[in-house]
Amino acid sequence: MAKADKQEALDKLNAKWEAKGLALAAGATQAVPGAGNPDADILFIGEGPGKAEDEQGVPFVGAAGKFLTELIESIGLTRDDVFIANMVKHRPPENRDPLPEELEAYGPWLAGQINIIEPKLFVTLGRFSMAYLLGESQVISKIHGQPKRNTKGQVVIPMYHPAAALYRGDLRPVLKADFARILKVIELLDRGADPEETEAENAADGVTHDPEKQQALL
Ligand code: URA
Repeated sequence: MAKADKQEALDKLNAKWEAKGLALAAGATQAVPGAGNPDADILFIGEGPGKAEDEQGVPFVGAAGKFLTELIESIGLTRDDVFIANMVKHRPPENRDPLPEELEAYGPWLAGQINIIEPKLFVTLGRFSMAYLLGESQVISKIHGQPKRNTKGQVVIPMYHPAAALYRGDLRPVLKADFARILKVIELLDRGADPEETEAENAADGVTHDPEKQQALL
């Protein structure tokens, strides 16, 4: 599908879901479906809109969003090169975590976006989108920054949520290092290589991308 057709399809999808009046809509100012390039190679998926996002109708524009923008720009991209979405498209009251039934209700909306955008790479931000794409049993501290292929064949790099780095400063360099690997993974995919296997081979060769381990090797 051409880029303009993808945008049109996304607009239709959003209108269809906004008309459904999902449970969180009642307490929100507006829907925050997502923003960016409808033909992006990379899809970032966060959790849900906060106060600033609810006011502006755009994802990741508050404090965590500023850091996400900085991370995207640190690898030479802009927000217009990628697509940024969330698990739930309306702000949960008081910014609480989305409930399992809310994640389930908004799941098909996100699935529709994924079908249209067809990204090469998914970057999950935080535990909810990681669970959505990789299953409930994953532990972020063990697998962050590592490309994984799920049962649907989708390639996913799980990452910490940028908001976590606002109160845990030690996660800032971890997120930066994980972001620094994104374009390499895209390059491997473009070459037809399996990034997950390449990762495993590198690990067997003693090559580590984990900044903590790199530090320990110095
Ligand atoms: N946190 C999220 O997960 N998504 C946003 O859009 C903003 C903050």
